[in-house]
Amino acid sequence: MSRKILVTSALPYANGSIHLGHLVEYIQSDIWVRFQKMRGNECHYVCADDTHGTPIMLRAEAEGITPEQLINRVWQEHYDDFTAFHVAFDHYGSTNSTETKELAQGIYRKLKAENLIEVRSIEQFYDPVKNMFLPDRFIKGECPKCHAKDQYGDNCEVCGAAYAPTDLIEPFSAVSGAKPELRNSDHYFFKLSADTCQQFLREWTRSGSLQPEASNKMQEWLGAEGENKLTDWDISRDAPYFGFEIPDAPGKYFYVWLDAPVGYMGSFKQLCAKSGIAFDDYWKQDSDAELYHFIGKDILYFHALFWPAMLQHAGYRTPTKLFAHGFLTVNGEKMSKSRGTFITARSYIDHIKNTEYLRYYYAAKLNGSMEDLDLNLEDFVAKVNSDLIGKYINIASRCAGFISKRFDGKLGDTNSVATAEFQATFNNGEIAHCYEQRDFSRALREIMRLADVANQYIAERKPWDLAKQEGKDAELHEACSTALTLFRDLTLYLKPVLPELAKQVEAFLNIPPLTWDSNWRALPAGHRINTYQHLAVRIDPKLIEAMVAANQESLKPTAPVQSEQRHAAHQQNESKKEMTEANKEFESFISIDDFMKVDLRVAKIVNAEHVEGAEKLLKLTLDIGEEKPRTVFAGIKSAYDPEKLKGRLTVMVANLAPRKMKFGMSEGMVLAASGETPGLFVLSPDEGAQSGMRIK
Ligand code: 2FM
Ligand code: ZN
Repeated sequence: MSRKILVTSALPYANGSIHLGHLVEYIQSDIWVRFQKMRGNECHYVCADDTHGTPIMLRAEAEGITPEQLINRVWQEHYDDFTAFHVAFDHYGSTNSTETKELAQGIYRKLKAENLIEVRSIEQFYDPVKNMFLPDRFIKGECPKCHAKDQYGDNCEVCGAAYAPTDLIEPFSAVSGAKPELRNSDHYFFKLSADTCQQFLREWTRSGSLQPEASNKMQEWLGAEGENKLTDWDISRDAPYFGFEIPDAPGKYFYVWLDAPVGYMGSFKQLCAKSGIAFDDYWKQDSDAELYHFIGKDILYFHALFWPAMLQHAGYRTPTKLFAHGFLTVNGEKMSKSRGTFITARSYIDHIKNTEYLRYYYAAKLNGSMEDLDLNLEDFVAKVNSDLIGKYINIASRCAGFISKRFDGKLGDTNSVATAEFQATFNNGEIAHCYEQRDFSRALREIMRLADVANQYIAERKPWDLAKQEGKDAELHEACSTALTLFRDLTLYLKPVLPELAKQVEAFLNIPPLTWDSNWRALPAGHRINTYQHLAVRIDPKLIEAMVAANQESLKPTAPVQSEQRHAAHQQNESKKEMTEANKEFESFISIDDFMKVDLRVAKIVNAEHVEGAEKLLKLTLDIGEEKPRTVFAGIKSAYDPEKLKGRLTVMVANLAPRKMKFGMSEGMVLAASGETPGLFVLSPDEGAQSGMRIK
């Protein structure tokens, strides 16, 4: 009997690009969903952009657009990226929808009726310039433990200490640079510490809804039986906030993490409206449908504690299982902009083009656990070229031409001994089991073992030799027809991973879409196939090099005031000879596209100070409307008193690769003019410009 399954992937924030790290999850879930659909199950896959919260509000403000304009633009970018990677959501929505709003408010009302909402006054930092309460991540200051400067309000990146923002020494607002004030405000809490939540979560943890690693984490969060370790969850934020207002609480908004998972339901509701699925069948408390959330291990806390507790007490069903996965590393290290390994989906598409290569590689490494996954770029090339092209595609490319040229495109009889041997080596149920368990690496190993058997058959029959011999037509016809039947079966098993390639193979073999049960029936003699077109080519390692270089290149320093070294070079420019050299550079034109690569921003100098031991540098703290201000070391000490710079606006290059300097990390460059006469002049925009505005 067919199962009813609803699958979700975590909702990406609507203020950043999809990168290869995100894709570990979407590719993984998409493979699983495609497998379920091929098996004939009724499986729906939904996702949405996660659109609310302070960072999105501030980002829109910095860009001079409304949050709605920002989230609409990013929605399209995300959707296009997912489509290019063949991540086929049945519906891709947005949390900023009527459906999500009504569901979130409905859940809140039910929790309130259950006496699980409590209002408490809390004291929090307030930015008196920006007139807003500051989330922890928007407050910076000196670490109370190790005294490192410029640390966030929740933890220190230098010594790792966790603390409250009020513990910071000399805190300042990362939004405006102002000194924050402590103010009181009423906040709404979901009473996770209530007995009913604790008891329910203990039972839920035992119900098998979590992977073993996640279940251990839950035990840790819940504490021993009788211990009450859970604390209530603050679900409200004060205006100004981009989100949904809390019913009967003017000026109070749901914290983004309250409505984000409700976005799963909201997006599914939109799918129901367009396709006639009954929403309640999937969400009512006694639903027999299965519900799976694919998530990163970093958001387990939200999905394993708050989310099921909310659903349970609001009268909905809870997730059948959470599938948490690890993080992506590239070449064994954290993705890094300076190494060029922080690769966006778009950059991959532009350079490598074939997105199924990455699907294949990720699948070959995924095993359903919470372990991190490493994208080793050399191994990526080797694996795609040896397995995918060398073992799989080559079967078709070596045999198809003979069928077209020698047999008018028609297949002959297949060799029953070979196909029987193929079946014997291969456990069809085993592959299905591996896919079901999300052990895609094992599924692919099995499939490649089968490809080896097919290749061995071809190597023994040597169609290229048969083709040269008189009177061997029947043998040639049989060998190629058999190989193509084996190729069809391999395609079937690879289809969840390589959907586009499978579609091309179906067109080439002139067969209906393959389902899980289309195997083992030989393609009939006389069946006409289409002319073979190249299905996939080997990856040229140069493409990878170019992609990595492009990710570094677009961030390379281009203007003179970033570091002491660059400043020194800049000063040497004062010599006539070097000025001539410099002028030569200006003689060649650049295109507008080249110019647009440089992300120039209006920056507010929220702080400027001397750097101990540095002869030429000043340390600037620049606000360009981002979550946290940038630190830039600029070689302008000879010309400026830091006190005089504080509060003024200037121009910075925002997409320069961060540069590790003797005195710390420099995260950009401010622009200054200089000429043959002495003097150095930092640029300023005209009155009215706001920090974060793009200069173009
Ligand atoms: O961590 C994140 O990127 C969140 N936007 C994930 C939300 S998942 C769900 F709860 F909506
Ligand atoms: Zn510290």
